[in-house]
Amino acid sequence: MGVVASAPAKIILFGEHFVVYGEPAIVLAIDKRAYVKAETRGDNKLHIRSMALNLSGCFEGSSFKVEQGNAREARMRFEPVRHAIGSVLEKHGKQVGLDIEINSSIPVGAGLGSSAAVVAASTAAAGALLDVKLSKEDIFRITYEAEKIVHGNPSGVDPAISTFGGAIIFQVDTGFKPLDAKEDIPLVIGETGVERSTRAQVEKVKVIVERYPRIVENIMKAAREVVLRAIDAFKENDLETLGALMNMNHALLYGIGVSDESLEWLSNAARKAGALGAKLTGAGGGGCMIALSKDEKLQEVSEAIQRAGGKPFIARKTDEGVRIDRS
Ligand code: MEV
Repeated sequence: MGVVASAPAKIILFGEHFVVYGEPAIVLAIDKRAYVKAETRGDNKLHIRSMALNLSGCFEGSSFKVEQGNAREARMRFEPVRHAIGSVLEKHGKQVGLDIEINSSIPVGAGLGSSAAVVAASTAAAGALLDVKLSKEDIFRITYEAEKIVHGNPSGVDPAISTFGGAIIFQVDTGFKPLDAKEDIPLVIGETGVERSTRAQVEKVKVIVERYPRIVENIMKAAREVVLRAIDAFKENDLETLGALMNMNHALLYGIGVSDESLEWLSNAARKAGALGAKLTGAGGGGCMIALSKDEKLQEVSEAIQRAGGKPFIARKTDEGVRIDRS
């Protein structure tokens, strides 16, 4: 039978990239989840299968054998899961073979935190299966360490929101605080269909930061002000201000080189159709954009994103972080 656990996708409303340099970010868990089933095996191998990606393969010690799909891609996608399961096994105290099956509806490489959601759910599923007591803080830590393998120097924002859910203000130094948001936040997410790597995007920003330190310092300061102003706007449910701040945040991200043509195209289409604001979300360079809109305009904004070549869906906040669905 095994254990099934799941964890949510996320969108960053404000502060991506700047968060890597210590600035605050505002993040929302959304109602798309990665589900992971864990079962024990008769041997000591770790077998992983991703239904959505049509990939599967087996780790035995440090060697990896692909069974389905491209070997390099399978290894790259599965490595963080292996790392996290390794941490759970360490706490368990003995080697056990496991079958891990991933069923996720979160688009991959799209800035929605699919990798962190899969790793958090895998950690929780393996922990529950092996009776290893894991607090949410433990799951966050294990997921964060595993994410470092693929993302280089991540801020920890993706593992935090996938683990804890809801809406949070995240900062590297101080961790996370719940965001005081009065109402639901009506958002359309537009997938550009352009895949990119978070690691490459984060490295691209590093080059800009090193080349133009004094200019970037001011951009960072502006990004911080945007987040601080947004925290007040959330309290007051002031959607107009939030929309204006999203446009400003997007402009700052454009300035550090992480937008691309597809994101500009979809964001402009959303604004023209009446969105209060639009911006890229996550690492940029493709991936997804988000548009904030009054409820009565959501449909129009969604259709405009589609006409502009994007794949839109309306997102709802979810308060549930990582959870055990079946044990
Ligand atoms: C990726 O979802 C968010 C980035 O800010 C990277 C990070 O925070 O680790 C681009």
